[in-house]
Amino acid sequence: MPSCMKYFSPLSFLGLRFFWNSFNLLTAIMSATPYLSDFFEFLRFPSISTDPEYAPQVAACAGWLEEKFQRIGLEARVHPTEGHPIVVARSERKPNRRTLLIYGHYDVQPVDPLDQWATPPFEPTLKDGLVFARGATDNKGQILAHILGVEKTLKETGDLPVNVIFLVEGEEESGSESLGRFLDGHREELACDLIAISDTGMVARGVPALTYGLRGILAMEVKLSGAEGDLHSGIYGGVAPNPATLLARLLACLHDDCFRVAVPGFYDAVVEIQDWERAEWARLGLDDAFFQRTIRSRALLGEKGYTPVERAWGRPTAEVNGIGGGYQGAGGKTVIPHEAFAKLTFRLVPNQAPAAIQAAVCDHLKRICPPQVRMEILPGHGGEPFLCDPHSKDALAARRALLRTWGVEPALIREGGSIPILHTLRGTLGAEILLLGLALPDSACHAPNENFPLENLEMGIRLNQVLLEELACAH
Ligand code: BES
Ligand code: MN
Repeated sequence: MPSCMKYFSPLSFLGLRFFWNSFNLLTAIMSATPYLSDFFEFLRFPSISTDPEYAPQVAACAGWLEEKFQRIGLEARVHPTEGHPIVVARSERKPNRRTLLIYGHYDVQPVDPLDQWATPPFEPTLKDGLVFARGATDNKGQILAHILGVEKTLKETGDLPVNVIFLVEGEEESGSESLGRFLDGHREELACDLIAISDTGMVARGVPALTYGLRGILAMEVKLSGAEGDLHSGIYGGVAPNPATLLARLLACLHDDCFRVAVPGFYDAVVEIQDWERAEWARLGLDDAFFQRTIRSRALLGEKGYTPVERAWGRPTAEVNGIGGGYQGAGGKTVIPHEAFAKLTFRLVPNQAPAAIQAAVCDHLKRICPPQVRMEILPGHGGEPFLCDPHSKDALAARRALLRTWGVEPALIREGGSIPILHTLRGTLGAEILLLGLALPDSACHAPNENFPLENLEMGIRLNQVLLEELACAH
């Protein structure tokens, strides 16, 4: 068909869809506009917690949150820590009411590779109903939805159905070390009946989920050193050990040919995925094609014997997150580097304990490290895997809230990401955790062009409002 023909087909399907999309977009923008300035202000802080250079901006972001909480009528305070500040805000504590603690994080991941962003990461940009910025989904959009939900309920009714405490930290993306220490000293202040967190995912646009499990994590860095300094690879190639080559061999020993982790003892404590879980997950349609489309890769790869969704949610892994050493600049340089390093993380499932896995991995690496190089292992942060009962009274209340918000039964899922503090949070405060995430699979969390749909901000506000109602009468 000649391309001009489409102009002559009145009310063509495409044309109608265009108007319908624009209409939806406009209504989304119009109804969310009052919140947009809050969202954009929040996103403009480059609150990168892993890079110490950004500490002042991280602190400024905490200050912004404190003010926002105070503006909506909560009592709020920024608590300095040895690391980044923690913001605590609360509604008036009324007796004979349940107390809900809402946890979130205002820190974000680094932005590199910067050249792959279509718009600057800290200059939020609205395009086709999506807000693009680092932290838009993870976790600023999601925690802001809770704040705005509480604000809206307070405006509409002058009260809240439950007492609310907000706990928003600035180190989630770097292991939550300060919060771990903080919790111990603030049990009374943070005492609650239940914890709600929106820092997980949805199955798809319009398909909500209650996440009842997350993987744990263990991070470490391995460094191999050879000669005292870099060497000419022509003069000494064939004579000197090359740490980069030996590192590659070492890392290749992390997996076997079926892509199972080859660390002895790694699977000892692993709880197998239950039959009901396999069945529930299989119905979600997250098949090979879905994953391939989402990650835009020519193929999938992972442990043999499990579907992609089972591997991502219910099986442990070993990943190389970064690898370096030697010449990284433009062009070539004939050099034998004097050292090479790799940054590793292991994702853990119930009942793998980070400390036990760390010991097993260190033993394995020491056993296989070639004697011609010196190996240093720098332990990193760790977090236990998380699992809760998706059929408890409060989980059922949360599921009703999700159903009322989206008009769709929420899926029961586990996910592969980690929120390292969950275990400590539940243990210290003695309250169960509900994970009600608003992230979409293609939100590009931790990647260039991270984005959050305004629609999810709106839905998240609604979710918070109905969640408080449902939890108030769940017992
Ligand atoms: N929101 C994520 C965790 C998450 C991601 C849960 C996807 C469910 C699905 C969180 O902010 C995060 O990214 N955590 C880090 C923790 C790490 C840096 C210690 C993670 O999982 O890599
Ligand atoms: Mn994250």
